[in-house]
Amino acid sequence: MPKPIYDIGQICELDRWEAFQNGQPHDIFTRLRKEAPVYWHEEYMPFENGFWALTKHEDIVRVSKDPKTFSSAAPGILMSYGDPEKGDPVATAALVGNMIAMDPPQHQVYRKMVSPRFSPKSIRDFEEGLRNRVREILDGVADKKEFDFVTEIAEKIPLWVLCEMMGIEESQRQKVRDIVNNLTDASSQMSNLNSAQTAASEADSQYSENALQVWVSYMELFKMGRDMIEERRKNPTDDLMSVVANSKVEGDGLPPELLDGFFLLMVIAGNETTRNTITGGLIALTENPAEKLKLIQDPDLIPNATDEMLRWVSSVVYMRRTATHDTEIRGQPIRKGEKVVMWYGSANRDEEVFVDSHLFKVDREDAKKHIAFGAGEHLCLGNRLGQLQIRILYEELLDRFPNIEAISKPTRVPSNFLNGISHLKVRI
Ligand code: HEM
Repeated sequence: MPKPIYDIGQICELDRWEAFQNGQPHDIFTRLRKEAPVYWHEEYMPFENGFWALTKHEDIVRVSKDPKTFSSAAPGILMSYGDPEKGDPVATAALVGNMIAMDPPQHQVYRKMVSPRFSPKSIRDFEEGLRNRVREILDGVADKKEFDFVTEIAEKIPLWVLCEMMGIEESQRQKVRDIVNNLTDASSQMSNLNSAQTAASEADSQYSENALQVWVSYMELFKMGRDMIEERRKNPTDDLMSVVANSKVEGDGLPPELLDGFFLLMVIAGNETTRNTITGGLIALTENPAEKLKLIQDPDLIPNATDEMLRWVSSVVYMRRTATHDTEIRGQPIRKGEKVVMWYGSANRDEEVFVDSHLFKVDREDAKKHIAFGAGEHLCLGNRLGQLQIRILYEELLDRFPNIEAISKPTRVPSNFLNGISHLKVRI
């Protein structure tokens, strides 16, 4: 590792979930942006070598747009894939090919295969069905006074969208929900155990139990995907799974591990991100009642408020790249093979880009400058779909239950990768 030019010592532990247990550590991010925008971060796991933490909007956009220098491919986009000695199943399954962990030109081929399904027109075609589904979901809570916003509302919307898009049958949808929740819980518990001060032997056995649970969930998910692919090859339909099943990208069709990777990416990327932004948005509105009132009085502000929620919540906390050759960022030399971690939550509060960046303002003029969806080559493929869901939910929710407010603290998913909330009590 070259000598850090912004040397302020070890001031944070962004590789531990504890740093995120009360939400994103904005005090740390603010200090890093100011004093050490390209910061050398040691890692507590003995098998990891540390990473460069990027916290400025400009640098993250630059890195995202230069995949030749900053690769998403092997080992991939996570900060760590666990202990290679333990043969971590998370590592194995996450490394299964998927486009988020590919570089050009391979990445462009895969992205092109599915991107027509994410075009503005395809997304617009979804709007009416989605609005009807949202109304049904709100009907379901109308008689309740208090309930869990995540399980009753937020998680139901992206799950429905994803299942419709991919052609997952009604009878399978609850199963998809359970698998996704299991995966998030068990993976988070594992990183939790890695960093918790639990006795080594106790942590080891708990780790293996969780690892098994993660493995079983992956296998269940892959089996469901493979069954669907087989069926779509026999009887093509017009859903996304059919497009992938019958693609000729790899000659005779995609090999099984790439099909698994695709299914996994869609199910995880589309679910967690959107539901957490929806829930984080409600917390922001509860904490800023004057902003909520603006939306009730002028619903035309909701599209802009959607971007502000995306900025504020930054539901994907980071993505990692690996330097493919010696390079520099802001004058800081970076060596080939070193990890570079981009902290979106920090970029989205960068005071050089956003006026009063620490205030939640539904009518802010610079809201669209957020990079909650990333930037460049891997800009979120589902960005329009994510935005549509948040906008429609808030149009319907505030019209029907303008008094809705959070009445509990959020239960946070122990993770430094997803800004996840598993429960939030609300009153209508
Ligand atoms: C609030 C909602 C969402 C947020 C904040 C979000 C965030 C992100 C981010 C930050 C990336 C960039 C990864 C990188 O640069 O390495 C990404 C990529 C991706 N997202 Fe999303 N996402 C959201 C919703 C969705 C939805 C609804 C879908 C699909 C149904 C989706 C599918 C994808 C896919 C397929 C990629 C990979 C694109 C590529 O590699 O070219 N996302 N997302």
